[in-house]
Amino acid sequence: MCGIVGYIGKRDVAPLLLEGLQRLEYRGYDSAGVVVTSPKAPGLKMVKAKGRVRDLEAKIPARFKGTTGIAHTRWATHGAPSDVNAHPHMSADNKVAVVHNGIIDNAAELRRKLEAEGVEFLSETDTEVLTHLIARSTAEKLEDKVRQAVRMIEGTYGIAVLHADFPDRIVVARNGSPVVLGIGEKEMFVASDIAALVMHTRQIVTLDDGEMATLKADDFRTYTTEGTRTTSEPTTVEWEAESYDMGGHDTYMHKEIFEQADAVDRVLRGRIDDRFSTVHLGGLNLGAREARQIRRVKILGCGTSYHAGLIGAQMIEELARIPADAEPASEFRYRNAVVDPDTLYVAVSQSGETYDVLAAVQELKRKGARVFGVVNVVGSAIAREADAGIYVHAGPEVCVVSTKCFTNTTVAFALLALHLGRTRDLSVRDGKRIIEGLRRLPGQITEILKQEEQIKELAELYADARSMLFIGRVRGYPVAREASLKLKEVSYIHAEAYPASELKHGPLALIEPALPTVAIVPDDDLLEKNRAALEEIKAREGKILAVAHQHQEKADQTIVVPKNEDELDPILMGIPLQLLAYHTAKALGRDIDKPRNLAKSVTVE
Ligand code: M6R
Repeated sequence: MCGIVGYIGKRDVAPLLLEGLQRLEYRGYDSAGVVVTSPKAPGLKMVKAKGRVRDLEAKIPARFKGTTGIAHTRWATHGAPSDVNAHPHMSADNKVAVVHNGIIDNAAELRRKLEAEGVEFLSETDTEVLTHLIARSTAEKLEDKVRQAVRMIEGTYGIAVLHADFPDRIVVARNGSPVVLGIGEKEMFVASDIAALVMHTRQIVTLDDGEMATLKADDFRTYTTEGTRTTSEPTTVEWEAESYDMGGHDTYMHKEIFEQADAVDRVLRGRIDDRFSTVHLGGLNLGAREARQIRRVKILGCGTSYHAGLIGAQMIEELARIPADAEPASEFRYRNAVVDPDTLYVAVSQSGETYDVLAAVQELKRKGARVFGVVNVVGSAIAREADAGIYVHAGPEVCVVSTKCFTNTTVAFALLALHLGRTRDLSVRDGKRIIEGLRRLPGQITEILKQEEQIKELAELYADARSMLFIGRVRGYPVAREASLKLKEVSYIHAEAYPASELKHGPLALIEPALPTVAIVPDDDLLEKNRAALEEIKAREGKILAVAHQHQEKADQTIVVPKNEDELDPILMGIPLQLLAYHTAKALGRDIDKPRNLAKSVTVE
């Protein structure tokens, strides 16, 4: 989605802002723009361009100097991608410039009012409304002008505002769209994502919804849109600037797939309690007595995080014997669900900013529910909104297509399941068995990734398929669903996931040589049932690629993965299929890190 970067200090601002925008390219965008000023030479200079950040850079004149500026990458919502619709949006008197992430719901109505008052709009965007509202405010201070404007709009926003009459400051505001301040030495930064900040500072302040901030070179202050001061102590982010480099890989997706052994090691670190065969999850704040009072667990997430939740729900049922299920947060929030005080709700999100998940959390909290977060980005909106939670410690995930975060989230769920299980009836022996299984995961991931060459050949073999069927049974079914999502989003090949048990209830009609099936065949108590499904497919001349713990006779090819404990096998079985999706996309020449029409975090409705 859209990205915001801003800076105030002594440095030449344009190159710094362009570098920041490049760090946000992974979020997906279609145009970009930048505006600069400086206390020594007030007045705003602006350049905008449809296309990539490099197209913007090419348009910037040599004498585009300033020490304060804001910049933006836009993902079109109101109006097509174009130079004129790109942000910043400037007022007619060239005094106010605004960059905005989010959607203003009452933009059409405000636009009509402003037009009736004689305001001429240049763009088709909702954001331009804000620019004119700020420019027309008669308040004396810039902060008050912005406050008045944001109080007139309905919807979501993360904004940064520059004013030619106030070249010593940037004013920012947040409601539903992330805004993070970066605190430097006599310089301040702002961005919609810490990815654009960590090469300059690791001291950050994350704004809350309804909060604003004024940034000056040597100072910042935060306050609410009502004008009440708030206290915001900077926190230190762990993520290093190097985490955002490609590190010799051709894409972030490839890099992130290969980071998984280390990432899993991190999510386990310091959490295992061998003495009691359980885990410590410090962020949960959940006493044993309270844990025993949980009657159900309901997991909410979107896309890949939802799939991780499906695996998590099974682990919780198996290890803790608590009824558990997962549902897309995007559905849950619209269906006036019955909210039960004895249910533990768990919101899952890599970014911690997905609007559908955040809205579900807010609705649950409004109804008095207890909500835990399973989140990757520390300090993100969902992490802060949740009552407690588990960070998945996957490190920054840049590729739009989620891989290492999926794996780490499933491991985090295994920890939660073990913790809940050991407060109930999971025996010490089983606790120990699961802990040993968790400890084997990093080494086993490394083993799987060594098969890249074979998986690449398989990807090339199947890359011309028009569609692929993914099947799995019980533990294997969420793995099949996630693998099918991975393939379709990065290769654009149609893929469908089905429970293997449902084959004969319909999808068997599709089987023919041109429709390959990827079958998840773990060596568990359902092995024979899964083999029977392979027979059924083979009898209809379907091609089969199996992911299994041992060679499958009925399959045309088998990717053999190391066996772990039955409950933990789903964590590993999807990993070769991430590589399959990656190499299929590569064979087809796709834009792997930025698949068409997708954004890294979906912070709008
Ligand atoms: O940041 P989140 O985990 O909340 O994002 C949820 C989905 O938008 C995300 O998983 C999406 O499905 C990815 N493109 C999957 O690769």
